[in-house]
Amino acid sequence: MIAVTAASGHLGRLVVASLLRTIPPSQIVAGARTPEKVSDLASKSIVVRQADYSRPETLAPAFAGVERLLLISGSEVGRRVEQHKAAIAAARQAGVNLILYTSILHADRSPIGLAEEHRQTEAAIRASGVPFVILRNSWYTENYGAAAVQAAKLGVHYGCAGQGRISAASRADYADAAVAVLTAKNVQNGRIYELAGDEAFTLAEFAAEVARQSGKPVRYQDLPEAEYRAVLVKAGLPEPIAAMLASGDAGISKGALYDDSRQLHALIGRATTPISATIKAALAG
Ligand SMILES: NC(=O)c1ccc[n+]([C@@H]2O[C@H](COP(=O)([O-])OP(=O)(O)OC[C@H]3O[C@@H](n4cnc5c(N)ncnc54)[C@H](OP(=O)(O)O)[C@@H]3O)[C@@H](O)[C@H]2O)c1
Repeated sequence: MIAVTAASGHLGRLVVASLLRTIPPSQIVAGARTPEKVSDLASKSIVVRQADYSRPETLAPAFAGVERLLLISGSEVGRRVEQHKAAIAAARQAGVNLILYTSILHADRSPIGLAEEHRQTEAAIRASGVPFVILRNSWYTENYGAAAVQAAKLGVHYGCAGQGRISAASRADYADAAVAVLTAKNVQNGRIYELAGDEAFTLAEFAAEVARQSGKPVRYQDLPEAEYRAVLVKAGLPEPIAAMLASGDAGISKGALYDDSRQLHALIGRATTPISATIKAALAG
């Protein structure tokens, strides 16, 4: 049996859909904090179990009989180390043979604020003694979908990423990569994949592509990190979210989300999804 946590999320759903193309539904465990959210999966004969990172008592039963587990990082920033540790302990208790974890690109040296929880989770997995594979995912191209629509409307995209290049890929690409490892015959214990898109772009190039596709002038306005954060707060984002996004851009300016090793391409055996495709889908509504 192969289990996927956070199966109700965007990535989790894509992983389950990709797994369904490879193994029978009865061998898939979809773990969700709120099982009702994935009742559609139960109706496809997938095994649905409650797996709430904040309720450790749900986790070992959720992983019972599971050989390989994809632990998708949670979305409650600031609480994730404790939550992920509970999932790792439960996987160990349940006798899981392999843990895959969705981390962040170059987690070991990433200056992005979000990377700290990933570093600590990676360390906890390593310390658990359970065989593991780390999938260090770069940004999703989908992170820029709403921004593309907004930029086409306003004629400007703000950021603080400077000339930093972003090697993004779509969630479906990362999902297929996870499934490639989850279903592989032989897996190298301790392997770390740096997963990133084939093509990298700067935010100026992103703005130029939005302009090309929308037929409207769009420019990129680079700002100091504090100013960008203030713009986001003025636009209505809560301060912690604004700080997180600005930290991401600042990291990009230092090359944190650039990678040209093409490990994602190799793992999925095809080209990754370019940012132009995400912009096209977003502008089409
Ligand atoms: N690489 C990137 O660009 C990028 C961007 C955003 C996020 N991420 C990370 O990648 C993960 C997956 O991305 P996504 O697009 O699928 O995010 P998403 O759609 O926001 O889904 C987040 C998932 O985490 C689950 N979750 C949150 N707290 C949980 C808990 N206490 N116990 C169990 N599950 C919990 C959510 O469950 P509910 O449905 O119950 O809320 C949901 O299934 C995110 O959670 C985040 O860690 C990466």
